[in-house]
Amino acid sequence: MARAKLAVLISGRGTNLQSLIDATADDAFPAEVSIVISNRPKVEGLKRATKAGIRQHVIDHKDFQSREDFDEALSEALRANKVDYVCLAGFMRMLTPKFVNDWRGRLINIHPSLLPSFKGLHVHERMIDAGVKIAGCSVHFVSAEVDAGPIIGQAAVPVLPGDDADALAARILEQEHRLYPACIKLIVENKARLSGAVVPFDSSVTAKGALSNPPDA
Ligand code: GRF
Repeated sequence: MARAKLAVLISGRGTNLQSLIDATADDAFPAEVSIVISNRPKVEGLKRATKAGIRQHVIDHKDFQSREDFDEALSEALRANKVDYVCLAGFMRMLTPKFVNDWRGRLINIHPSLLPSFKGLHVHERMIDAGVKIAGCSVHFVSAEVDAGPIIGQAAVPVLPGDDADALAARILEQEHRLYPACIKLIVENKARLSGAVVPFDSSVTAKGALSNPPDA
């Protein structure tokens, strides 16, 4: 069966892109990364795409007068490449409601907190400052509000004594790299579907998936 086509949108170093590239290198994985799009030229993530032989495209937001124009160019590129799903992976642009609506149910993001806590930027510093004891990451369908939208999967990690933002970020990132491919697999296999404001559990998702670890890929 043909594998689903993923577009991965990045703005920087692309370690989550790498985790998707690595997962999809296995022919048994039900999706492939068909294009990488960056809104910034020359970022590390683009080099990862080159190395993996994946088509890439820079759509520099600075070349556009408005958010609407940028998003239209983005949509055009996605349509031209006939992608099935759009994975945001460190993509640092706010998307217009029209774009979000056009790609509803096919637009996915990863965020380094246990949503709906700690949306937005500087998440790790803010968690350390707030003294939380459990942190983690979330993969969710994108809705118009930033870092909101139906949660597909989450992974939790402890905050340890002496952690600074970098140490915590590294611990969370390790889980991000497991969680994102696992959630993409669930979506493509139709086990994670939007139902109103939530993604209900599929009967095949184990209790382990429901607790602190990502569902088994
Ligand atoms: C990750 O922490 C991701 O959760 C957030 O931005 C960061 C991107 O890192 N949305 P990378 O570019 O994937 O390494």
